[in-house]
Amino acid sequence: MAQARACAERVIVLPRHIPAGVSTVGEALAQARRMQNVTPITGQAILAHVLGQGRARLLARPEAPLPRGQSTEFAALLERAAQGEPLAYLTGEREFCGLVFTVTPDVLIPRPETEMLVDVAVQWAEQRHKAAPHIADVGTGSGAIAVTVAARLPQVCITAVDVSPAALDVARHNASRHGVGKRTVFMQGSLLEDTPGPFDAILANLPYIPTETLQTLDVSRWEPSLALDGGPDGLDLIRVLVRQAVTRLLPGGLLALEIQYDQGPPVSSLCRDAFPDAITAIKRDLAGLDRVVCVEVPADRA
Ligand SMILES: C[S@@+](CC[C@H](N)C(=O)[O-])C[C@H]1O[C@@H](n2cnc3c(N)ncnc32)[C@H](O)[C@@H]1O
Repeated sequence: MAQARACAERVIVLPRHIPAGVSTVGEALAQARRMQNVTPITGQAILAHVLGQGRARLLARPEAPLPRGQSTEFAALLERAAQGEPLAYLTGEREFCGLVFTVTPDVLIPRPETEMLVDVAVQWAEQRHKAAPHIADVGTGSGAIAVTVAARLPQVCITAVDVSPAALDVARHNASRHGVGKRTVFMQGSLLEDTPGPFDAILANLPYIPTETLQTLDVSRWEPSLALDGGPDGLDLIRVLVRQAVTRLLPGGLLALEIQYDQGPPVSSLCRDAFPDAITAIKRDLAGLDRVVCVEVPADRA
């Protein structure tokens, strides 16, 4: 293994698509435009990442020189982009709710749809005016939900759980990157099994893609199946979490679950069975698709 790595370090693999002699920003961008499977915006984003500057600056100065080391790095990343690797893994970053998160192939790339879960939690907390609500983010991955909620609500304490130690490392990094590390506890474990609690709110974007469907999707080539595979009907983990939440949610509490577009009816039915006295609602995203199931437990619940 170590030997293979030593060899790999010595052999410089020249990318197929970028000929020697690409020596300015404009030439590199032109070359990227000619590549199949790479959009011009992706080419610009990769070059901006390599040069550590904004896209606007690249476009304004196409004559700027591109040092050899950076043109080699650019070419290697372009090659990976052409193979279909997501841009976020190439640059190591993705924006979520206006904050930039570090991402690695150990974590799901945060999706814009998940911003809705954050909005639901923030709105709920603002209406409650509780001094220091304790919120759980179950399946935290990159920490996108936990960190954003903590950043938007300076009074909350968060417990962020994931079964993957590598994902937790990324989440911890993101929490300190955004200055919320002191209010966020990271725990390795399965769902709420070993968490302290009870919680004022439990938020979760768990793996919810049915196994068979996942096998047909391109995401399964790049993102961890641990973050995507929800079992035969996609609900394996959601089912267990809903059951656990019954004894882990405080009166007046919120359970908010991100779901796949067709899981609104089965997940809300699971929630109604588990919380017969609560208000269960399905929220739709901007595309009009079912996206979050919310359970609001009455404040006078025994
Ligand atoms: C869909 S990803 C969500 C990541 C992040 N919360 C987001 O919204 O971008 C699901 C996460 O749940 C984690 N996970 C899978 N099974 C789990 C379990 N039994 N207990 C806790 N976390 C789990 C995965 O490692 C992954 O990080």
